[in-house]
Amino acid sequence: MEESITARRFTATLSRDIPRHWLPGNEVVSSLLNAYTILVPANEAFYIRTLNACTPRLQDDGLRQRCQAFIRQEAQHGVAHKRYWDNLDAQGYAYRGIERVVDRGIFRVMDRVAPLWLRVSLVSCVEHINAFLGYKFLSQAILANADPRVRDLMEWHFAEEIEHRAVAFDLLQAVSPRYPVRVIGAVMTTTLFYLLLASLAALLLAQDRRLWRMATWRQLMHHLGAGHGMARRTVGHLRDYLRPRFHPSRLADADALATTVLARQAAAEPPSIVPMPP
Ligand SMILES: [Fe+2]
Ligand SMILES: [Fe+2]
Repeated sequence: MEESITARRFTATLSRDIPRHWLPGNEVVSSLLNAYTILVPANEAFYIRTLNACTPRLQDDGLRQRCQAFIRQEAQHGVAHKRYWDNLDAQGYAYRGIERVVDRGIFRVMDRVAPLWLRVSLVSCVEHINAFLGYKFLSQAILANADPRVRDLMEWHFAEEIEHRAVAFDLLQAVSPRYPVRVIGAVMTTTLFYLLLASLAALLLAQDRRLWRMATWRQLMHHLGAGHGMARRTVGHLRDYLRPRFHPSRLADADALATTVLARQAAAEPPSIVPMPP
């Protein structure tokens, strides 16, 4: 697959007047994506370390260049999401201790104890989830009514996840193409990713004193069930990943959605994103 991967800097101002529940009427999605924002930098630093460990031994120049382009994009995601942490701090959320525990207790331990084939398999699966989330949020316009600054941050990230979605999977095929390796990585990643995301979102909602309100659970049911259908769609997407002949490039209209978002943000006045020199 010959995708085009451009690194862009997210330049929009994320000022302090952004409301804590920046998707009006939906504290659940605001909190889930705030949790995503907290988890992104350590997660993506792990992807970068994993890919950096692979690239020197890659025979395929094209794949090596795609990995380097992937790393440049992921590095910018971490920088931009971390900028949003200042808002979370100002809003009084306590999350930094947990973030440190997750980074040191999971990702840094993986670096030391997990073999490279397993780390690549973990990254391949989580990249599939990232692209899936991006595709579902963009195709259903879930953030259409969100505060435009946070919407731009999230949608830029989602669009780039779609753009580079095949890189880690192709790397896994180059490093360790055995099917059981994909399955082990998928089981571990899926469990860890959704557990971390859900627990952290629940913690943020508890700090807001919103966790045990009826309205919150109705929003959650809407997100997972009849509204956004995320529970059913997530199961279907994970099943796709486990099909022996799966390849991430097969994702219907995802590229067109990503291109539209990126073009809109680049053409805005002032632009939210600026391409980086090659
Ligand atoms: Fe990313
Ligand atoms: Fe990614």
